[in-house]
Amino acid sequence: MKPHREKIDLGPTPYDQFVEREGIPVLKGYHVPDIMDVELEPWARMGAHGCYLNLADQQDTDGYVCEIAPGQQTLPQRHLFEAIVYVARGQGATSVWQEGVPRKTFEWGAGAAFAIPLNASYQHFNVSGAEPVRLMASTTCPRLLNMFHNEDFLFRNPFVFEDRFRDEDDYFRANRRLTTRCWETNLIPDVNEFALDDFPMKGKGVRIMRFTLADTTYGCHIQEFPVGSRSHFHRHGPGAILIVTEGEGYVMLWREGDAEQGVHEIRPGTIYSPGDLMYHGHFNTGHTTMRHFAVRGRSPKYTSDRFPNPLWNMLMIDEEPAGIHESYLEELERNGVKAEVSVVRE
Ligand SMILES: [Fe+2]
Repeated sequence: MKPHREKIDLGPTPYDQFVEREGIPVLKGYHVPDIMDVELEPWARMGAHGCYLNLADQQDTDGYVCEIAPGQQTLPQRHLFEAIVYVARGQGATSVWQEGVPRKTFEWGAGAAFAIPLNASYQHFNVSGAEPVRLMASTTCPRLLNMFHNEDFLFRNPFVFEDRFRDEDDYFRANRRLTTRCWETNLIPDVNEFALDDFPMKGKGVRIMRFTLADTTYGCHIQEFPVGSRSHFHRHGPGAILIVTEGEGYVMLWREGDAEQGVHEIRPGTIYSPGDLMYHGHFNTGHTTMRHFAVRGRSPKYTSDRFPNPLWNMLMIDEEPAGIHESYLEELERNGVKAEVSVVRE
């Protein structure tokens, strides 16, 4: 059985054509070593500088990097796709408003994450006079553009989602546990400070929290690997975009049948995206906890887990290709780190 679907090339999709018209660089591939090193170009629609992240060759979700110069702001934006924003650098604020809800402004700094309520108007501000702001956003733009292939419908749609954004003073401070490993809020002040829950099925000592942000159906989570710990490999459909926020190590990306596994170094600011049905595993080789912020799938309130993808699966260490775990233990030894996970083989 062939483990992944063949790509059928029918030419540029509506999303590809839109991105071409946007006139900023488009990064491809699976791995971006450092968000601070990517080259950005003037972005007329946003009124800032930016590049698109069209990683893993996919057409469902995407990302972009946006830089706002000191003391500047983006142009007001509004769109009928969801956007989850991570602040890689700088200090700023975002104003959000829509018919029936006056402008609300919340502040953020490096390490924060938040979502824009669907089809609300918004504008980002850099409040520093010296340091640029650099944002990474993940969006459902490709899914919506490829479905409706009409930019007016997506960017100039007057519909107001009254159920998603309300005139409440504490709207952006809403904060509550949904269930184990699931949280609802509108603003994560610092991804590296957020308390997580144990997630042992993903690996020894691994911790996680999944979020519904600003009532989005688009999901995101924070995942943590303690010193000397790694994840099990798993795979699912395309669309995940991850940014490392703390620690160092490597990620391995491979598909069933590949002669060898792709190994990519990771450190704070590294972005990567596993392709469709690509196994991925995270390996902490450093002396500190490793964390990442991942945007993918459905948020906990609107989860698709009630209908699990039958192709989603996880490999235990004794099921993965030989040598991967042994190489990890050798790397830990070279770094003088005590392994928390031993080899489990028959
Ligand atoms: Fe995954």
